[in-house]
Amino acid sequence: MNSAERENLIQIGTKFQVPGTFHDGHRIKIGHINETYAATYDCYGTPFRVIHQTLNTQVFRDPEGLMRNVVKVTEHVRRGLAEGGVDQIPRRVLQAVPARDGRFYHIDTAGQFWRTFIFVDGVRSYDAVENPGQAYQAGRAFGQFQSALADLPASELIATIPDFHHTPKRYERLRQAVASDEFRRSKMARKELDFAESLAPIVSLLVDAEARGEVPTRVTHNDTKFNNVLLDEETGEAMCVVDLDTVMPGLVLYDFGDMVRTTTSRTAEDEQFLDRVELELPMFESLVKGYLEAAGKFLTPAEKRLLVFSGKLITFTIGIRFLTDYLEGDQYFRIHREHHNLDRCRKQFRLIQSITEKQDEMEALVERYSR
Ligand SMILES: Nc1ncnc2c1ncn2[C@@H]1O[C@H](COP(=O)(O)OP(=O)(O)O)[C@@H](O)[C@H]1O
Ligand SMILES: [Mg+2]
Repeated sequence: MNSAERENLIQIGTKFQVPGTFHDGHRIKIGHINETYAATYDCYGTPFRVIHQTLNTQVFRDPEGLMRNVVKVTEHVRRGLAEGGVDQIPRRVLQAVPARDGRFYHIDTAGQFWRTFIFVDGVRSYDAVENPGQAYQAGRAFGQFQSALADLPASELIATIPDFHHTPKRYERLRQAVASDEFRRSKMARKELDFAESLAPIVSLLVDAEARGEVPTRVTHNDTKFNNVLLDEETGEAMCVVDLDTVMPGLVLYDFGDMVRTTTSRTAEDEQFLDRVELELPMFESLVKGYLEAAGKFLTPAEKRLLVFSGKLITFTIGIRFLTDYLEGDQYFRIHREHHNLDRCRKQFRLIQSITEKQDEMEALVERYSR
């Protein structure tokens, strides 16, 4: 961190009700969406650590509403933990630190939106799931998170990104991209477009089920990547779920489906050797086990029935977003090589095929851990 960045961070810190005086800070990671800094304050000789984090207000158009969501959700989880007599509560749920003016954010002179959380000690996160034990922890962490929020009415939260998981709208956009074919790339993607066409019948299945009330709208996380789970450094136990900007009304199925997509095949999102892309049943089994241990009690039979399908649908939704972006000239997802978004799409579509091949075994595992 250069001295200007440090000066700025010190300034930001003074706007929040952090005890003590600034000692040092560093950037945790270069985020795609947010910048995250860890800062240590000296509080009468005792270190006090917080996270100062920016929010991209281009992506999140109602940042105040978003912070109201975050506070509501974390307070709700904290109350539940306290009622349950659980230990180490400050390590199990994020705690936002208010600004000096009592709000939960500060907008700096450059117009940047900031918020502050208490730093969770003794944990680490991993970019990708490496083994079934971690898949179990991922499933359990998000299952517990959903479970803790199952009695918070979704209507109390705003949608921080409207239509985030609306597959039919994403599909329509793909159709438009094909129709205009501005970059003359549809030729390259013939096979993928045919595949996408063949899956047209599944596109609106979940939004329709939600609209008909067959699956309930709940409070969900919507960004269930493994690096949003903080695991105890010593025991490897999932302690805390972070990255709450997309917590909003949704279907638990989208959370679970995205975990299937990101944890069950240990290949990169843009893997080029498609032969390596395969749904690994031991990973899926651990994921389902952890998830249903935590969420099994509140899920309805309809939700359980759609768990495997949700993995397929989410993978499809992301796949067509990559494909659309490829056709639209790579405007949204940053590319690092030619045809990068097409490669990303191919990886997703290959995973869908693997899920289809193993569907019966996957359903049997859901059934086993539902009991
Ligand atoms: N309160 C916290 N305590 C400790 N580490 C945290 C905390 N909040 C975030 N982190 C770490 O910072 C990383 C990025 O934060 P996150 O909120 O997920 O932002 P991004 O939008 O960049 O993914 C997380 O993966 C986690 O490792
Ligand atoms: Mg994150």
